[in-house]
Amino acid sequence: MFQRNMQAGNQMRIGIVGSRGQLGSALSRLIGMERVVGLDLPDFDATNPDCLTQIASENIDCLINTSAFNDVDRAESDTDEAFRLNAFAPVQLSSYCAARNIRFVTFSTDYVFGNRVSSGHGRPWTETDEALPLSVYGVSKWAGERLVLNRDPRAYVIRTCGLYGTHRSSRPKKNFVDLMLQLGKEGKTIRVVSDQIVAPTSTESLAATVLEFLGSEPPGGIYHMASSGECSWYEFAAAIFRIRGIAPALVPVTQAEYGAKAKRPSYSVLSQVKIHGLGLSLPHWEMSLKEYLGNSPF
Ligand SMILES: NC(=O)c1ccc[n+]([C@@H]2O[C@H](COP(=O)([O-])OP(=O)(O)OC[C@H]3O[C@@H](n4cnc5c(N)ncnc54)[C@H](OP(=O)(O)O)[C@@H]3O)[C@@H](O)[C@H]2O)c1
Repeated sequence: MFQRNMQAGNQMRIGIVGSRGQLGSALSRLIGMERVVGLDLPDFDATNPDCLTQIASENIDCLINTSAFNDVDRAESDTDEAFRLNAFAPVQLSSYCAARNIRFVTFSTDYVFGNRVSSGHGRPWTETDEALPLSVYGVSKWAGERLVLNRDPRAYVIRTCGLYGTHRSSRPKKNFVDLMLQLGKEGKTIRVVSDQIVAPTSTESLAATVLEFLGSEPPGGIYHMASSGECSWYEFAAAIFRIRGIAPALVPVTQAEYGAKAKRPSYSVLSQVKIHGLGLSLPHWEMSLKEYLGNSPF
C-alpha cells in the first residue's frame, strides 16, 4: 500500500512525531512537506494522551515516531522522563495505530546491547541477539521496543547508531560532527573515546533507506539500519578533521578516563544482514560523512 500510494503520487499523509529533530527533518524533506503532517513540541507532546486527538484530526496513513529522550547521561538521573518518552509514548502511539490499521514506525538504538563477556566480541549484533542494556537510556528504549511490538506486531522498530544530521529544533543542540568542528575552531585539546566501536550514521542516508524499506512492505518487527563499516569515536573525529583539512590537538581516551555518567557498550555495531536480505544497504560511514561535510555550513 505504502509503495503503491507513494509511486502513484497519491496524497498519502504521513505523520512524523519529532519532525523538527535530526531524523524527523531528513524524513520530512525526502517525503515532501505536502505529504507530511509534522508533529513536534511545543504544539504536539507525544507524552500527553491528548496528542491522540490531534493525530485523529489529521487522517494519516502512516505514523513515524522519531521523538526520543536522547540525553544518555541525563537519563541516569531523569529516569521517569526517559521512560515517559522512550517507552510509554511509543506504546500509546502504537496502540492507537494498531486499532486503526495505521502503519507505525519507531526508532531504537544500538545501546540496547551490552558487552559480550565471552566469545563474539567484535561481531556485529543481529536483531535476534539478546539485548542487555547498560544504561537507563538503553533500558527505556528496549522497554519501548518490547511494548510497541507487544501491542502491534505489524509495527516496525528500527535500531540505528550514532545519528548526525541537521535539525530544525529551537533548542541549540549540536550533533557529534558539528560539535567536533566547533571545538576544532576553538583551538582546544579535544579528548575523544577510542574504546567504543560504532557505525556513525547520517540521518540523510537513514531516511532514504527507511523510505525504501517502507516501500518493500516487509513483515513487522525489529530491523537494524546503520552505516556500513565501523570505527571508534576517536577515529570518527580524526576523519572529520582529516576531511576538513584541519589538525587540532586530538587525544584518544578510554571510556573510563572520559568518565561519562552512563555506561556505553564497547562494541555496538549493528549487523545489516537482515536488511541486505531485502536488497537494502546504507553507505560506508566515511562516504556519508564526506557528503555531510560537503553540505555543512560549519
Ligand atoms: N541521536 C543519536 O545518536 C541516536 C542514536 C541511536 C538511535 N537514535 C534514535 O533515533 C531516533 C531519532 O533521533 P534524533 O537524533 O533524530 O532525535 P532528535 O534530533 O533529538 O529529535 C527528536 C525530536 O523530537 C522532539 N521531541 C522531544 N520530546 C517530544 C515530545 N514529548 N513530543 C513530541 N516531540 C518531542 C524533539 O524536540 P526538542 O528538540 O525540542 O526536544 C526533536 O525535535 C530516536 O528514536 C533516537 O532514540 C538516535
